Amino acid sequence: MKTEALEVLKNRRAIRRYKSEQVSREELEAVLEAGTYAPTGVGTQGVQIIAVQSPEYLARVKALNASVLGRDGDPYYGAPTIILVLETEECKTHTLDGAAACTNMLNAAYAAGLGSCWIHRCREMFESEEGKRLLKEWGLSENMTGVASLALGYADCEQPKPKPRREGYAIIV
Ligand SMILES: Cc1cc2nc3c(=O)[nH]c(=O)nc-3n(C[C@H](O)[C@H](O)[C@H](O)COP(=O)(O)O)c2cc1C
Repeated sequence: MKTEALEVLKNRRAIRRYKSEQVSREELEAVLEAGTYAPTGVGTQGVQIIAVQSPEYLARVKALNASVLGRDGDPYYGAPTIILVLETEECKTHTLDGAAACTNMLNAAYAAGLGSCWIHRCREMFESEEGKRLLKEWGLSENMTGVASLALGYADCEQPKPKPRREGYAIIV
């Protein structure tokens, strides 16, 4: 049994406070690569992963997510990197492939010594005019569907403890 991998899956937690220091290229690439190895329906590999690090694009992505939420502030908790996960038109298993890529990257982030947090509202972000403008600027199809985004960085807090798991969460029949 690969117990170290199982420990990673159990101990990863959502991190909501980040240092401003940027993540290393090596760690970022390890996280992104883990996303590309997630399962995809019929093996289509139709997921598009975008790591955002430039100050201009970070500000625009943060503002876009906040505008969907209808609030000011940073929904990414000050994370210096944001990972966007979208699906191309070729993707037949909508949102599921993207979600699988997200969980791989969250777990890989913890394994690499980084903090991360799943952040919602990606679908609405990329249905908006600003979202489509961003995709165009990045040379991507404007017809992609947003699945989720992830905050990524070095945690600026203690590693949270998991809540006890719900009775009957998993059963064997
Ligand atoms: C679909 C989905 C959407 C989420 N959206 C947000 C979000 O917008 N903001 C946030 O702070 N956390 C978000 N989370 C993180 C959850 O709140 C977090 O995973 C949950 O509280 C359990 O904590 P854990 O990840 O530490 O086990 C989201 C998680 C999922 C799976």
